[in-house]
Amino acid sequence: MCGIVGYVGSQSALDVVMAGLKRLEYRGYDSAGVALLADGGLAAAKKAGKLVNLEKELVERPLPAGSTGIGHTRWATHGGPTDDNAHPHLDNAGRVAVVHNGIIENFALLRAELAERGHELNSETDTEVVAHLLAEEYSVAGDLAEAMRLVCRRLEGAFTLVAVHADAPDVVIGARRNSPLVVGVGEGEAFLASDVAAFIAHTRSAIELGQDQVVELRRDGVTVTGFDGLPAEVHSYHVDWDASAAEKDGYASFMLKEIAEQPKAVADTLLGRIDPSGSLTLDELRITPADLRQIDKVVIVACGTAFHAGLIAKYAIEHWTRIPCEVELASEFRYRDPILGGRSLVIAISQSGETMDTLMALRHAREQGSKVLAICNTNGSTIPRESDAVLYTHAGPEVAVASTKAFLTQLVACYLVALYLCQVRGTKWGDEIQAVIKDLSKISEEVERVLETMEPVRALARTLAGKDTVLFLGRHVGYPVALEGALKLKELAYMHAEGFAAGELKHGPIALVEEDMPVVVVVPSPRNRSLLHDKIVSNIQEIRARGARTIVIAEEGDEAVVPYADHLIRIPATPTLLQPVVATVPLQVFACELAAARGNEVDQPRNLAKSVTVE
Ligand code: F6R
Repeated sequence: MCGIVGYVGSQSALDVVMAGLKRLEYRGYDSAGVALLADGGLAAAKKAGKLVNLEKELVERPLPAGSTGIGHTRWATHGGPTDDNAHPHLDNAGRVAVVHNGIIENFALLRAELAERGHELNSETDTEVVAHLLAEEYSVAGDLAEAMRLVCRRLEGAFTLVAVHADAPDVVIGARRNSPLVVGVGEGEAFLASDVAAFIAHTRSAIELGQDQVVELRRDGVTVTGFDGLPAEVHSYHVDWDASAAEKDGYASFMLKEIAEQPKAVADTLLGRIDPSGSLTLDELRITPADLRQIDKVVIVACGTAFHAGLIAKYAIEHWTRIPCEVELASEFRYRDPILGGRSLVIAISQSGETMDTLMALRHAREQGSKVLAICNTNGSTIPRESDAVLYTHAGPEVAVASTKAFLTQLVACYLVALYLCQVRGTKWGDEIQAVIKDLSKISEEVERVLETMEPVRALARTLAGKDTVLFLGRHVGYPVALEGALKLKELAYMHAEGFAAGELKHGPIALVEEDMPVVVVVPSPRNRSLLHDKIVSNIQEIRARGARTIVIAEEGDEAVVPYADHLIRIPATPTLLQPVVATVPLQVFACELAAARGNEVDQPRNLAKSVTVE
C-alpha cells in the first residue's frame, strides 16, 4: 500500500529514490513520482501507471541534479490513478512537496478551509491538503519539522507523510501515525522508507519510528520528536536481510523465486526452536508459561492468506492442546463484539505486520484485556510492536504480492505455538506429539521434494489458460488449503476460482460443475484419517460423474484415488495436520503458471498491493 522513499546525503537523490521505489513497487503500482531539491528550488515529476512510465518521463524531461529528494509509488485510495492524483503533491507556489501513505479522514473539511483561504487544489486526493497546510505553517514557523508537527496535530486517520521544502535545503521530514515508516542511517546520509528494502543496498542501520512521531533527516543525523514536539525515544536495530534477498536472482518473477525459497524459509523458521531431545524453546514469546497455562480460549485474527493459515492452525491447536480455538477475519472481528477476556489468547498472523484490519483487531483484543501474540515476518513492524509477544517467521522479504513462502512459515509458526502450548500445559505430551515434532523437523525436506516434481503441474496449468472457472475441494485441513489454492488463482490468473469443503458440495455448489470443468481436490492421507479419505474419494467420484475434470493432489502410495483422477499430483506422505505445508506448494505453482500463460503480471496483479494499510 503506497511505497515512500526519502533521501538526504551526497549521492544523486534521484538515483537513490528511483532505486528505492523499484524495491517498493510491490506496495502499489498505480502511479509514481519524485521531487528533488535542486538549484534553490523544487523539481518534480509524476506519472500514472507503473514506475517504468516515470522512468520514461525522466528521460524525456530530465530533472536538475540534487542530493535531497522524495519519491512515491501509489496504490490509489482517494482519486483514480491519474497523473494529477499521483504523488508528490505540491503547494500552489511549488515550494513544498509531500508524499503520503494512508488515509486522511478529515481531508474534506481541511480542503474546504483551504479553498476559503484562496488555495487552489488540483487533485482528487486527500494528500494535497497536507502540502498546502505545510506551506502555510512553514511560513509562520520557519522550521519544517515544527510545521509538520502542527499539521499532523490537525489530521485524522492513518498516515505516513514525507516532505521537502525548497527553503529548507538538505532536510527531509517524515511523520508517522499507524502507517509504517523506517529510517536508515548511513555515513553522511540518511533515508526514509516504508520498508527497509528501499535502502538496504546503502545501510543496514535502521531506526523504527513509533506512533505519532516526526523525524527530521539531515546529512549529519536524525532527530525524532513526538507530534507534541517532545524528544522521542527511538529503537535502533540492525537489518539482517541482505540486499540480494530483494533481487530476482535470475528467476522470471519474485513469486517463482519465493516459491523456490520455501524449503529454506521453513527450515529457518524452525531453526533453534526444536532441540534434539524434541522439546521446544520459544523463550522469545514473552508470555510466561504460567500465563499460557491459564488460557481457556485461543482466537486467531488475520486476513487473506494469513487467515487461511489461521484456519489450519485451528485444527492443530484444538486437536493437540484441547483448547477451543476460533478463527476470525480480522476485518470482521471488532465490529461484532467478540467475547474475550483475560484468559483468551489472541493470535494475530501477518506477513507484513502492517495490515490495518489485523492491527485494529489486535488493539480491540488488548482493550478487552486479552494477551496478543503476533506471528509476523517483518521485524519492527507495527503488529509485533503492539502485541504482548511475537514469534517471528523467518521467510525473508516477500516481494511478490501473492503470499507463498510467508504462508508456509506462518503454518510452521502456528504448529510451533500449538506444540509449545502442549509442552507448557502438559497436554498429550506423549508419543503422538513427539512423532509430530519429528515430522515437523523434517518438513522442509518434503517441501524440497515437492518442488522437484512440479513440471507436470506447470504443463497442466498451461493447458487450462482458456478455462473460466476452477473449483477447489478439500476436507479437514485440506479445506483451507483449497481456499488458499482458489485465492491464489483469483488474484493471479483473474479467473473464477472457489474453494469448498468437499462435503458441502452436494448442498449447492455441485450445480456449478460442468463438462470438463477443472476441479482440484486435496486428498487427506489414507493412513491416519481413513474415514475422511474414503469420504473424499466418494466426493471425487460424484463430481467426475457430472463431467468434471479432476485434478487430484494425493500422497505417494494412495492408490484409491487413481481410477478417478484425470490428473494426479503426488505429494510426500505427511501426517494429516502437517499436510498443508506440502499440499499448498503445487497450488502456488499452478496459479503462478496459469497466470503467466494468460499473460498476466505475476508479481503485480491488478488492483492489489502487498500490504493493506487501510481498513
Ligand atoms: C494473498 C495475500 C493476502 C495477504 C493479506 C494479509 O496472496 O498475500 O491475502 O495474506 O493481505 O497480509 P499480511 O499477512 O501482511 O497481514
